[in-house]
Amino acid sequence: MTAADLVVVANRLPVDRIVGPDGTDEWRTSPGGLVAALEPTMRAAHGAWVGWPGQADVEIEPFTFDGIDLVPVSLSADEVAEYYEGFSNDTIWPLYHDVIAPPQFHREWWDAYVAVNRRFAEAAASVVAENGTVWVHDYQLQLVPQLVRELRPDVTIGYFHHIPFPAHGLYAQLPWRDQVLRGLLGADVIGFQRAQDATYFLTAVRRRLRHDVKGAAIAVPSGPGETRTAIAKAFPISIDTSPYLELAARPEVRARAAEIRASLGNPAHILLGVDRLDYTKGIRHRIKAYGELLDEGRLRVEDATLIQVASPSRERVDAYVHLRDEIELSVGRINGDNDTFGHTAIRYLHQGYPREEMVALYLAADVMLVTALRDGMNLVAKEYVATRVDNRGVLVLSEFTGAADELRQAVRVNPHDIEGLKDAIMEAVQMTPREQARRMRALRKRVIENDVDAWSSSFLGALAAAREGKRA
Ligand code: G6P
Repeated sequence: MTAADLVVVANRLPVDRIVGPDGTDEWRTSPGGLVAALEPTMRAAHGAWVGWPGQADVEIEPFTFDGIDLVPVSLSADEVAEYYEGFSNDTIWPLYHDVIAPPQFHREWWDAYVAVNRRFAEAAASVVAENGTVWVHDYQLQLVPQLVRELRPDVTIGYFHHIPFPAHGLYAQLPWRDQVLRGLLGADVIGFQRAQDATYFLTAVRRRLRHDVKGAAIAVPSGPGETRTAIAKAFPISIDTSPYLELAARPEVRARAAEIRASLGNPAHILLGVDRLDYTKGIRHRIKAYGELLDEGRLRVEDATLIQVASPSRERVDAYVHLRDEIELSVGRINGDNDTFGHTAIRYLHQGYPREEMVALYLAADVMLVTALRDGMNLVAKEYVATRVDNRGVLVLSEFTGAADELRQAVRVNPHDIEGLKDAIMEAVQMTPREQARRMRALRKRVIENDVDAWSSSFLGALAAAREGKRA
């Protein structure tokens, strides 16, 4: 493998490993948007991707897949428990999502996080070309920018944070708050989803490390009496809209949407929720509001069905185990109280589906419910909008998502306010086709013009400017 000009570093590789019938490894592109976003750039630039293959104790040599060099980082079972399930998903994840679940602080988890971040940084440093670019992704790898800089001062480093960055009062709880800030400040460009996230980060840098901050520019000490500039600002991520537009136009996908509606007894209103089964997504709040609308007779089970797709996620982390129990209990109760032989209140699916089926579901849904309590962006909202080539359907969107900054014509909700959420659901259900079309046209324009290509170009553009600045 030759050295790569652009190295992406993310917790997961962009491929899923499937062990074939003869015991050999097979790889399939994973459905994530990041891969689709970066694929063209990666190929053009001779790119490499450093990441974990998603299973413990698998040692795999670097290999090339679809024109991109993949560099697998191996994690032991203990590291999966302490670095991935522990520090990443039971410390940072809940802390950064406004402590919706209590974060657990364990020193052994932090030690594993440091060790694994070092392994990712070493892998990146060993494959990046002289004066190349390393682009680090997300909260699992916050120390990697600084570690790469120590190993390879010649390279330009970007970091993109896909989840929220918390207000200072919450961030300050983290016992390793200064180390994490220093880790991130190893990057030349630090990107966030919302302007608010960048502001919180800059506040933490000013208050904890006392660095000079002017606008988006941070003066980071780089030697005795010397500083270099790091930029922290918002680069809201998006989706690759083309497969959604293309699938939505296919007759067989439209037929599948009609079939889904018919299989539910053709109710007048289909409401849809699509989430990883995560406590940040506000699934309980949504179900509660919907259940009360049925109880109060504002909706009737003959006229309405809520489809809730909750894809399995992080199933060995306690908070996720409890959440699943709670949700399944309330779905069972609401269905038990309301279902008839021919109609169901909630069709709950603890499964993941291929993109084609998701597009059919989006087309089948009159109302899309995105009620996250906190969400970095929420790409499901953008997928729904991109899919509605017919300019029909209503998006109900929590103001606590990154997407709410951009998707202004959605019906906005505070998911903590159950009465407000109920009113928003009724407003969506009763919206005239004319008003639906007016809003959907504006939403679609926004998503199609600001797709993931625009996002990666603007981030890589900022990195190129940083590289020029270093040379000057
Ligand atoms: C969020 C995070 C990603 C993560 C994904 C799935 O979108 O920002 O970094 O990959 O959730 O979670 P998992 O733990 O399965 O990687």
